[in-house]
Amino acid sequence: LPITILPVPFDWGAGRRGAASGPEAVLQAGLVRRLQKLGCRVQLRSDDYLPNTDADRRTSAKLKHWGRVQTMNEALALEAAAAMRAGTFPLAIGGDHSLAIGTVAAAAKARRRIGVLWIDAHGDLNTPQTSPSGNIHGMSLAALLGLGDPRFTGIGGPGAKLNPGHIALVGARELDVGEKELIRELGIACFTMHDIDRYGMARVMENAIRVVSDGTDGVHLSFDIDSVDPGEAPGTGTPVRGGLNYREAHLAMEMLHEAAVVTSADLVEVNPLLDNGQRTARLAVELAASFAGERIL
Ligand code: ARG
Ligand code: MN
Ligand code: MN
Ligand code: MN
Repeated sequence: LPITILPVPFDWGAGRRGAASGPEAVLQAGLVRRLQKLGCRVQLRSDDYLPNTDADRRTSAKLKHWGRVQTMNEALALEAAAAMRAGTFPLAIGGDHSLAIGTVAAAAKARRRIGVLWIDAHGDLNTPQTSPSGNIHGMSLAALLGLGDPRFTGIGGPGAKLNPGHIALVGARELDVGEKELIRELGIACFTMHDIDRYGMARVMENAIRVVSDGTDGVHLSFDIDSVDPGEAPGTGTPVRGGLNYREAHLAMEMLHEAAVVTSADLVEVNPLLDNGQRTARLAVELAASFAGERIL
């Protein structure tokens, strides 16, 4: 499938600025050429599908900058849907993780039953009621489950976009109280760093791939770069130590390429302002290449 790269230079869903420069940094690090070298057909969309939200001051303590986040997601959902209708694989480059509300909503509409593989240090399963920060990037997966405020559960149509049994979290190590309750209550498959230490990344990924692909019509990969240890990926807004090492992250991507089940993806939370050397953007490109089929031998 040809890949449509959707840059999302947007960071109002996060608590600090900078991820809006993520797409530029990842493209500057050579994403397009690296994918083309693997034989992928790549279309780079310009970001002019995103309305300018500079004048939008709609915000509240429990849903910070909700006006901008809502406007961005409505536009992104339409753009991702168009990329899928054109028979391409949408790859959204963030930007903060609130953008998954739009991309997953579009994928759910195109594929009916969608599985979601959420590789992240966090759960992003807060609601405005449970969020410790009010930052919407910590609420995206809950919104996709139909939980939280209708301004976000309603992106791309009302209600839940997926079944909790078709979600797998991988790499979790910082979950808020309400998120833990939700994971238990809904029986969401959560492969924590403890599981990765204990069973190894290969076994964890085999299980996670089964969860998201059994009984679904497509799989969306939402990859938050903060899943990787901050030693490798320092350029991200909410780093948490004890993350995936370099090879664990690559192995996950290589296994996803082999499984050939993923139909759309996000690569989010690269914040070049927090990373002088642009190591994190370069890592993002390398991981995207492994996902697209780059092999050692
Ligand atoms: N759990 C915290 C919150 O809800 C942090 C979320 C971080 N999310 C992210 N996509 N980096 O505020
Ligand atoms: Mn996240
Ligand atoms: Mn995260
Ligand atoms: Mn480890």
